[in-house]
Amino acid sequence: MNSVTVRVPAKVNLQLAVGPLRDDGYHDLVNVFHAVSIFDEVTAVAETGMSVRVEGESADQVPEDGDNLAIQAAVALARHAGRSYGVSLAIRKAIPVAGGMAGGSADAAAALVACNELWGLGLPLEDLMEIASDLGSDVPFALLGGTAVGTGRGERLAPLEVGGTFHWVFALADGGLSTAKVYGECDRIRQEGGEPVGHPRAAEPLLAALRAGDARALGAELTNDLQPAALSLRGSLARTLQAGRAHGALGAIVSGSGPTCAFLAESEAHAETLAAALKTENVARDVLTAHGPVPGPTVVQGPPGRAQRIPLSHDESGQS
Ligand code: C5P
Repeated sequence: MNSVTVRVPAKVNLQLAVGPLRDDGYHDLVNVFHAVSIFDEVTAVAETGMSVRVEGESADQVPEDGDNLAIQAAVALARHAGRSYGVSLAIRKAIPVAGGMAGGSADAAAALVACNELWGLGLPLEDLMEIASDLGSDVPFALLGGTAVGTGRGERLAPLEVGGTFHWVFALADGGLSTAKVYGECDRIRQEGGEPVGHPRAAEPLLAALRAGDARALGAELTNDLQPAALSLRGSLARTLQAGRAHGALGAIVSGSGPTCAFLAESEAHAETLAAALKTENVARDVLTAHGPVPGPTVVQGPPGRAQRIPLSHDESGQS
């Protein structure tokens, strides 16, 4: 086989509880990840060297050299296999760049799945997970999809049971926010406030709302400890969040480290009307609707007659 295409979803954080700064520069988290139906596509073609090309949503802001996380993923996988494989990656972006929706992590996860297939390595999900956690804190979840709670720096995952499909609206902002800067601002605000920072815990009512598929209860439970920091760095997001609430969002939250804002709707129809309302309010560069949870990386084109769905052991955690 000489070409494999993998489709991979974005994520939103339903709870992002940030503990104190650790000695290694990371924070202990309780991070409830939820994969949503905004997809990047990564095509891997057999080549002698390693290269990457990016097109689509804000492609000009994505590096096409060794800084690209998808290429780093391919290099790490080849190293793990102990072979000097080559690949040319083509990334078609729809996930906002540096938007708090783990677009770079998604592309890295897709590259791992695509190259595993392209090079015929047949590595199990567990091996890919190990490589993924070295690439970034959100890459393991990007391999898993569905809904899961992450602990540690977000890389230790337990899939969660979800009793329904949730409908979302995402307000995309102009320009991204650096994750490291947002965490740094969070530390600065906390230091200024002088409050002790407790150990993060999963919110039981949020997990219950997920199990029940209860959008109204979930909307009331969405929390993000990085939100004050994102708002401090990008004051205009307060108006975006307020506009969503005013138009009946069940919950309004900055997605991860931002600046994308996420709004939970009552239904698919409500998501459409909410999105239309936000567009007329001029509070976002673009407005998208999506649903979740959705499965993780999926092979959409590859060798004929092979299974179309990768990875393997966590299908029950994702629905489309
Ligand atoms: O793991 P990743 O490279 O995606 O993290 C980017 C940055 O986000 C880190 O360098 C760190 O500043 C911050 N971060 C953190 N605690 C986490 C995850 C990320 O402080 N649990």
